This record gives sequence, C-alpha cells and structure tokens, in this order.
Amino acid sequence: MKAWQVHELGRPVDVLRLDDIPTPVPGPGQLGVRVLAAAANFPDVLMISGGYQVRPPLPFTPGIELCGEVLAVGEGVTRSAIGDRVIGSWAMPHGGFAEHALMIDELSYPAPAALDDAEAASFHVGHQTAWFGLYRRAGLKPGETLLVHAAAGGVGHAAVQLGKATGARVIAVVGGPEKVDVARSLGADVVIDRTTTDIVAAVKEATGGRGADVVFDPVGGASYTASTKCIAFEGRLVVVGFTSGEIPAPALGHALVKNYSIVGLHWGLYATHDPESIRRAHDDLTALVDTGAIRPLVSERLALDDVPDGLQRLADGTTTGRVTFVA
Ligand SMILES: NC(=O)c1ccc[n+]([C@@H]2O[C@H](COP(=O)([O-])OP(=O)(O)OC[C@H]3O[C@@H](n4cnc5c(N)ncnc54)[C@H](OP(=O)(O)O)[C@@H]3O)[C@@H](O)[C@H]2O)c1
Repeated sequence: MKAWQVHELGRPVDVLRLDDIPTPVPGPGQLGVRVLAAAANFPDVLMISGGYQVRPPLPFTPGIELCGEVLAVGEGVTRSAIGDRVIGSWAMPHGGFAEHALMIDELSYPAPAALDDAEAASFHVGHQTAWFGLYRRAGLKPGETLLVHAAAGGVGHAAVQLGKATGARVIAVVGGPEKVDVARSLGADVVIDRTTTDIVAAVKEATGGRGADVVFDPVGGASYTASTKCIAFEGRLVVVGFTSGEIPAPALGHALVKNYSIVGLHWGLYATHDPESIRRAHDDLTALVDTGAIRPLVSERLALDDVPDGLQRLADGTTTGRVTFVA
C-alpha cells in the first residue's frame, strides 16, 4: 500500500516520502482501516519537524486524525466491527496519510451519519479540542464573551461554532481579508483582522471596555500578550497552542492584579486520564451536528498525492477551515 513516511525530520515538503509498504496488521485493541479521508492538523506539522511533545520513532506515517472503514480487528476489540465507518486518532506509527492505517478501538467513535468522509475525518481533533477547552477547562457560559484567535483555522473555527452554539458572544481574530469572510460565515459577532486592526482596542470597543470572559488561543506570542490586555475580570485564557512559534512567558503579577486565570489544555491527555469523557464529548458534538448547530468547515478535499503541499500550506498559515485528503 502507499503511505507517506517520515525518515528524517524537517518541513513537510522537504522530508515526506511516498513509500510502498506492507499493509499494517492490527495488534491487540487496534483496528485496521481503509482510509476514507484524513485531515491535516498542525500537530502533524510539528511531529514531522520534531517540534511536538510526541516524537514517534522513525520512520512513521503521520496523519493523527482520520475516518476509516474497519477491515480487520485485533484481539480484544469490543467497540467496533468489520465494516463500521469510524473516526478518531491514529495508532502510532501508522497514521492516516496512507491507503490503510491503524486506529485504537478504545479511542474510535462512530462517524456521524450526517457528515461525509472528509467532514467526518475533520470532526475529531478540532471540535474535541474546542469542546474541552471551552467547557471543561474554561467553563464558558451563555451570555459570556468569547475571544477566539486563528478563528478561521482548524481548532479556531470549531471554537467559534461551539461558542455560538452555547449562546456566547463571539469575537473572532483572523489574519487577512479572506479569513475575515470565513469568520463571518461561521457566525462570529465581531471579526478583527489582526493584520490591519489593533486587537486590544477592538476588543475593548466591542465589549464597552470590559474585555473577553474566555479567550481561546491556539497562536501564542503577540496574540497571548494582546489577550492579557483585553481579558475581563475573572476571565479564563485557554492556552491551546503556539502556531506563532513563540511560547509566551506569562507575567504572573499581571494575572494576580487583573484576576484572570491562565488555563492549559492538552486534549490528548484525556485519552489516558479520562477516556470516557472523550466519548461523552463525541456524543454531545454529534447531537449538535444533528441539530445543525455545528459542522466541520472542509475547505479543501485533496488527494493522497497532495499531502506534503497541503500540510506545508497549513504550516505556513495560509489555509482556512480543514484541509482533507480523500481516498
Ligand atoms: N492543546 C491541544 O490539545 C491542541 C489540540 C489540537 C491542536 N492544537 C494546536 O492548535 C493550534 C492550531 O492547530 P490547527 O491544526 O487548527 O491549525 P490552524 O489554526 O488551522 O492553522 C494555524 C493558524 O495559526 C495562525 N498563525 C498565526 N501566526 C502564525 C504563524 N507564524 N505561522 C502559521 N500560522 C500562524 C494562522 O491564522 P490567522 O492568520 O488567522 O491568525 C493560521 O491559519 C496548533 O498550535 C496546534 O498544535 C492544540
């Protein structure tokens, strides 16, 4: 079967190699799937370059998020059966940027019937991260103001959708006019183009000087600093990622004098600490899809051959919504 493999670390366009390798056989608790679609995620980019907290041994096939048809099951599999259409995370090192992949039975979920393969493949990491960030970590409530950075991106657009579904007022920050249109189409109440507009002044103006109750920040760097200047009394700033490449060193005296919380989120840890909570979130998110309140925004449906280019554009910050690779 064809599989993109990482033999050395670096940029996706430089190091990914399309190899012909044996179809992986599922071990205990694993599913062997035909990949129907896989979605690009920033953590794939970071893993390929060696800059992620998880470092698979080389060579490996990236693609942490996918939708697959179960073709084979390993010993002890109880949740899925041959023929099922499932979504979820990869079983390292056989990810979704290949014709076949391995998934973990315990961490695989029924693909929502209302979503096609590309949408279903995109429905796990982004929306789960937003769900855990906004509800479990920040306790977002109806009527509060939510500020979302990189709001037209993968996890960002999911946070905008869930914020609106919760009844929050959503302020979206994006980089450039094309992304402004995307954020508006998602239903954001206020959209700030960070390339032309001062974020702090715009958030203060939009909130009558009060600031945002919850901030969802996948960017770090200057976005984090701006957030601390326009966060409300008892606000919660959720640290989701650092696409800017800068990991902020927070001034804790500032958090004290302004009474705000800096809340870390590593969604992947729930797989070991509380796997049932991921299943509950999946059921909740699926119900929201069924009512039409949320839906992954798939902006690109590419072929397996396009993986390096799609991942590189995600790394370069030029994509919107979800980039997918469809069989
Ligand atoms: N904490 C968790 O559990 C968890 C789970 C999943 C993902 N994440 C993290 O969430 C972040 C977003 O992931 P994603 O896959 O959804 O990507 P994405 O948001 O679709 O793409 C990255 C976006 O970041 C913004 N950005 C700002 N400065 C950038 C720069 N210097 N280079 C590239 N992008 C820049 C761009 O949006 P604008 O131009 O609109 O600002 C860009 O579109 C990543 O840091 C990822 O690691 C965290």
